[in-house]
Amino acid sequence: MSAVPVIAIDGPSASGKGTVAQRVAKTLGFHHLDSGALYRLVALGAAREGIDAGDEAKLAAIAVRLPARFEGEEIFLEAERVTDAIRTEENSFAASRVAALPGVRRALLDRQRSFRRPPGLVAEGRDMGSIVFPDAELKVFLTASPEARAERRYKQLKEKGIAATLAALLQDLRERDARDVTRSVAPLKQSPGARPLDTTSMSAEQAAAQIVDWYRGGNR
Ligand code: DC
Repeated sequence: MSAVPVIAIDGPSASGKGTVAQRVAKTLGFHHLDSGALYRLVALGAAREGIDAGDEAKLAAIAVRLPARFEGEEIFLEAERVTDAIRTEENSFAASRVAALPGVRRALLDRQRSFRRPPGLVAEGRDMGSIVFPDAELKVFLTASPEARAERRYKQLKEKGIAATLAALLQDLRERDARDVTRSVAPLKQSPGARPLDTTSMSAEQAAAQIVDWYRGGNR
């Protein structure tokens, strides 16, 4: 097994994983893997090629050759900047369908593991601690109430000038949670050995500081 340390941060959508994982990575000087972005990229790539979000063989083929690049906070599909395009509600829905296909998950395994490079990696997603990096040094399961998560997503969208209503976002989050939790492959659940962190009344800074403390304290 690799000696490069991994901090696995799993949890439901809009739990704050992205912001928290980025902060932890920055504080420790580690690399960062946003695994959800890979599923979102496969969904977007498929839409661009007119492939149905249920066509497992074709989607797995896209996942294997996915021409994606991460540059700082920007994400590219071939030469196109798709940082915002992968996060639309439509593509979020398609990504959650794509992520339920075992062939796609298998096809993305090696790519996710290739992000494990010195001095360390902060990996965020749904199955980082359970399947992709089962030997992670520290596993965290980040949660927040559906209301708090809907509120955060609402603020993010508003900042970007995208129209949304809280009620619709809450409903959408609940549906996506249900799909992520009940799917047969790699369902969202707290893995044994993961520390729960409820961020309902915490800022991203506080949550990140707690994770860095756990990591540095060896208090695991
Ligand atoms: O974290 P996110 O919302 O960007 O993830 C997008 C979709 O991909 C979401 O439906 C859950 C799924 N996903 C997954 O199944 N496994 C991961 N490791 C990360 C995301």
